[in-house]
Amino acid sequence: MNSIIETDRLLLRLFTLDDAPLIFQLNLDPEVTRFTGDPIINMEEAERVLQQIIIPQYALYNHGRWAVHVKHDLEFIGWCGLKAKPATGLGGSEGMEIDLGYRLLKKAWGKGYATEAAYACIKYGFEKLNLPRIIGRAMPQNTGSIRVLEKCDMHYLGEEVVDGHPARTYESINPFIHQ
Ligand SMILES: CC(C)(COP(=O)(O)OP(=O)(O)OC[C@H]1O[C@@H](n2cnc3c(N)ncnc32)[C@H](O)[C@@H]1OP(=O)(O)O)[C@@H](O)C(=O)NCCC(=O)NCCS
Repeated sequence: MNSIIETDRLLLRLFTLDDAPLIFQLNLDPEVTRFTGDPIINMEEAERVLQQIIIPQYALYNHGRWAVHVKHDLEFIGWCGLKAKPATGLGGSEGMEIDLGYRLLKKAWGKGYATEAAYACIKYGFEKLNLPRIIGRAMPQNTGSIRVLEKCDMHYLGEEVVDGHPARTYESINPFIHQ
């Protein structure tokens, strides 16, 4: 497998259009999309998400949401990664913000995988891509996600409404760039 990021237990790789069944399967579980509000209702929609949202980010920004596999058996467990989007609220008032995100199959929860993958994505963003700042957001009730952001040493900025939903917003500043 051609991985972009390797951690102790995980491999992160680029998604391809062939991964539509994996994205579809992941979003099929209502518990997985409980706080993300974007269930994918069929394979065509999964293909569209890959083609129009996930894959274009790789060429545009050199990063994106990456497929996550467990290293020892190469099982797909979800995605984690960075996404460039227009800055909003505590993310900033102009330009783009880089958002950290993650979504795992339920069977992979509770093993520290999200934290391991998220931490590696932040490190990659700072060390390899020279990004100045990474933002993380989660709904206040999404305790697991908030815990991941905290365990990645992200700094809490405050609560705000983003796209009509309450969000807790966190940031990490690149320690290698002197402002
Ligand atoms: C959020 C999510 C990625 C967490 O994945 P995970 O692999 O279970 O996370 P980790 O194992 O790295 O756990 C990180 C911490 O969060 C805690 N945690 C995880 N889920 C939790 C929950 N539901 N309630 C309370 N704490 C939780 C863990 O105990 C751990 O903290 P600890 O080390 O202090 O015990 C996973 O639940 C998921 O994919 N959810 C659906 C998609 C989603 O909501 N994504 C985030 C959108 S903002």
